[in-house]
Order: sequence, then C-alpha cells, then structure tokens
Amino acid sequence: MPTSLNNQKRVYCDYLIIGSGLAGLTAALEAAQFGSVIVITKTKAEECNTRYAQGGIACVIDQDDTFEAHIADTIAAGAGLCHPDVVQDIIKAGPARVRDLEKYGLQFTRRGEIMDSTSPEQAQQFDLGREGGHSARRVLHAGDITGRQVSDVLLARCRENKNITILEHSLAVDLISSRHLDWHDENICLGAYVMDTTTEEIRTFLSSYTLLATGGAGKVYLCTCNPDVACGDGIAMAYRAGAEISNMEFYQFHPTILFHPKAKSFLISEAVRGEGAVLKVLRNGEYVEFMQDYHPLKSLAPRDIVARAIDNELKRSGQECAWLDIRHHSESFLKKRFPNIFQECLKFGVNMATDLIPVLPAAHYCCGGVRTDVNGVTNVKRLYAIGEVGCTGLHGANRLASNSLLEAMVVGYNAVHHSAGRGLSKPAVDDDLIPDWKHGDAVNSDELIVIAHNWDEIRRFMWDFVGIVRTNKRLERAKNRIRLLRKEIEKYYWNFIVTPDLIELRNLASVAEMIIDSAIARPESRGLHYNLDYPTAEPNSRGKDSILCRPLKQKVWFE
Ligand code: SIN
Repeated sequence: MPTSLNNQKRVYCDYLIIGSGLAGLTAALEAAQFGSVIVITKTKAEECNTRYAQGGIACVIDQDDTFEAHIADTIAAGAGLCHPDVVQDIIKAGPARVRDLEKYGLQFTRRGEIMDSTSPEQAQQFDLGREGGHSARRVLHAGDITGRQVSDVLLARCRENKNITILEHSLAVDLISSRHLDWHDENICLGAYVMDTTTEEIRTFLSSYTLLATGGAGKVYLCTCNPDVACGDGIAMAYRAGAEISNMEFYQFHPTILFHPKAKSFLISEAVRGEGAVLKVLRNGEYVEFMQDYHPLKSLAPRDIVARAIDNELKRSGQECAWLDIRHHSESFLKKRFPNIFQECLKFGVNMATDLIPVLPAAHYCCGGVRTDVNGVTNVKRLYAIGEVGCTGLHGANRLASNSLLEAMVVGYNAVHHSAGRGLSKPAVDDDLIPDWKHGDAVNSDELIVIAHNWDEIRRFMWDFVGIVRTNKRLERAKNRIRLLRKEIEKYYWNFIVTPDLIELRNLASVAEMIIDSAIARPESRGLHYNLDYPTAEPNSRGKDSILCRPLKQKVWFE
C-alpha cells in the first residue's frame, strides 16, 4: 500500500504506529523493511516518556552477570504476577536489541568516562549502573540522559528513512475497529481517526497493522514525573475498541522526584541511590536514615517499598519531603556520573556534593495496560500494543527498575516481525463501508471550564484516594466521583465538537476508572497495590492477573 498524505481525507499505509517513544520508533525502523510506515505523535516527536528515562536499560552484558539472576530479580520484584516465559524471552532478547541501538548510533557510557584510574581494557567496558531490586550492576546508560539519547538517535534514523513518515501534532481520536461496524463478525483493527491538532481536522487512517505505542498515563495523578502527553490515550482507545486491559491497579510511584515549587516534576534517578545515596528524614532537628526499618536493602529496596516508606514517614511526621544524601562522593565524580541531574539540582540551589536533595514520590509508570503476549499481540486482530501501553506480563505487580526500555525495544521489534510474518495484505473489509469521522449535530463548546475543572478534580482525587496507600473507603469515594464525572464527560463529548483537550480528558477519565475498578477488584495487598484493609497478599490469588473485560457496546463515533 502506498503512503499517500497530500491532505487527503483518507490516508493509507502498511503500518500505522501511534506514538514516538522507544517502542514506536524501534517498530518503525523494523517495519520500514517491509512496507510503508506512518508514525503519528501528538505534539513534537521528541515529547514522550522515553525521553525522560534517566536510569537506562537493564541488560545482561557483564560476564559476571547471568540471565538467571536478572530473571530472578524481575520475578521477585513482580510479587508473584510476572509471566515467567515472557520474563525469560524479553531478558534473553536484550543483548541483541542493545546491539541494534549501538548500530543506530547510540553511545553508552564506558567506565573510562567515569573512573579516574582504570586499565585501558576496563576503560572500554560499559559503565553499568545499579538500581533498586537488582542483585548486580546491569543498567546500561548514556550519561544520566539515556532516554533523551535513545530518542534523538532513533528519530534521526527514522527521519532519514524514506519508508517512514512522522506526522507531528497528530492525535489519535479513536481506533477504527470492525466491532463497531455491525456487518463484521470478527473484531479487526482497521486504523484510526486522527486529528491534526493545528487545524482540528479529523482524517481516516487505514492500515494493514496498527501498533499502539502511546506510553503511560502518569497525568492521571496530581504528582507525576511523566510529561504532559502521558494521558493513557492508548489504553482508553484500545478499551473502546474491545481490547482486554489488565493489571491497572499496579501504578508505580517513583520514590525520588525533586521537591521544589519551581521544578516541574524532575526525576532524581534511582541510579543516584545505586551510587550509594541514602534516604533521610528530619527527626528532632536531625536528618536520619529510616529505610533500615522497612527493608534489608534499605534505600535500594524495591520501589514500591521505598515509596510507601517515604509516604508513611511523611504522614507520621507531617514533613513536606524526604531527603537524599550523596555527599560522600566528590563533586567531580557527581558531575561526571550525573551531569544533567547535577546541573538541574544546581538550578534550584541544591549542590549534590554539599547539600541534601529534597525528594517526594510521584506517579511514574503504568505496569498494567493492553493485555498482550511477548509479541505485543492483543485480542483485537491486527492491533498490537508495545511499550508502556501494553501489559505483557514482564512487570507483574511491580516493575523492576530499567526493565521498561528493555521491554519497549524487544516487544516493538517482535511485533513487527510477528505481523510481517502474516503478510501485509489489507484487511478483507470494503473501504466504502468504513465511515469518515462526523461531528453529527455537535456544536462548539461554550463552557471550556468544564474540561479544566474535571481534569484537575480527577488528578486530585486519584492522588488522594487511589495513590500509594489505598483503603476500601477511599476507593469507594473515588468510584463514586469517577462515575459522575465519566457520565458528564461522555455527555459533553457527544454534545460538543471534540478538541484535543476534550479527547485527552475523556481518555484520562476512562483510565482513572480502570485503575479504580481494578484496585477494588483486588482484595489484597500485592506489589504496587497496597490496601490498608487487606495489608497482606492473598495466597490464592498468586499468578492471577486482573483483567477488565471489554464493554459490550459503546458509542465511538456518529453514524
Ligand atoms: C530512574 O532513573 O530512576 C528511572 C528508571 C526506571 O524507572 O526504570
């Protein structure tokens, strides 16, 4: 199928990739070997969760490390819900995908760049970082801006590739799935309705395969280190299209976001604790360590435990933040190992070499998502979900640090090879029977305040009631509120001409409801889901994913 844009109402391609992070761009470069690829991205192509990943890519590279150890660490962090076959496949595929990244031009940091005294041989070795829950140093990194480097390199390769078209300011409104067209029995994804956010015109994109690579949903919470684009669009669209969604109760909170009124959710990488930084709280006028009261690994315990411990200490003491202490390292080491974090902290008056760093937990990573296998295959034909939007079973109830970039590149790669093996022929559906987007009798809104108000309200009650520590009562409160808001938003959606803000709000509300429903459906505490009314894990639920079934019938467009 040729790629034809030229302002046509209908656009055709072999692969439609929604999202421009590591998963989407890895898939684009692979898919370009087989056919035409369009990557749509809602703002600038650079703006995605990948870009903000500081730590790096967990991968077994060192001769002293083993796949078995990485697999065991991943499964231990996942609190009984990892799918062991998926864990094994993804971890073992890591080295080959890392070599691809190097081939594309990524330069991982070598030991010689950090250490003052190394032999010539050691100087050439990868500098491997350590993060919480890992039994070995195994995190490949490019300075402390790994995500930014990955994004820049892959975008450059995609932009040089004549089979790949990147369309910025292009927001997917909804997937086009045949279940909404009464004449078709099978549920097949045929493409998506896509809004050009500069004109707000909506066009029909038809593809042989559609790959969702939209990332996470951190904006569902008031405090998050995710960029503004992370509204859970892919999860919400897939749900409306009939895809199964799983494990949404497992939202990961990163323990250490810089606490400063002017710092917009800046992450202090777990790699800082990997280099020996310890968490402290202020007690009786003194900064004291506290993680020894919670876990033998202290400040490098798995993330769920660290985030809950900080939350508990702050609730108990009424303090505003915890503190990270890495003053045992010299300024010159810190500047070499964490050049970006060092400069960013300095901007806010914190010198890591001499000052404690004020930190707080914030929403970071969605461990649940569109249910897939290791190839990103969903239950909707021709629809794949790759990267953070998907739920392969790698993370279980709690993601091990730096396993997400690994998963994004492995599953992005796998999805293309899986689909290409099935051929690029167009779905057997007559184009004429697929409607273009219509506004029906909707009119322009006269009260945009509804959008801003509901947006703030959802994020606030999700933070207060469905955050790091939950209770039945809080979940019930959240459920009552989201039920009302969802109704109001749906009505608004169909009465008024859709805008980018309205599309995002509707998706955010839908994802919030999925998180609440999944949390209510899990009467136990496991991994990232902690409910004070059920403080322990339920032995009988070991290995059981929570799965949200698809809604039976929901209006997705005007007919
Ligand atoms: C970090 O650098 O702390 C984030 C790494 C991750 O979330 O995997």
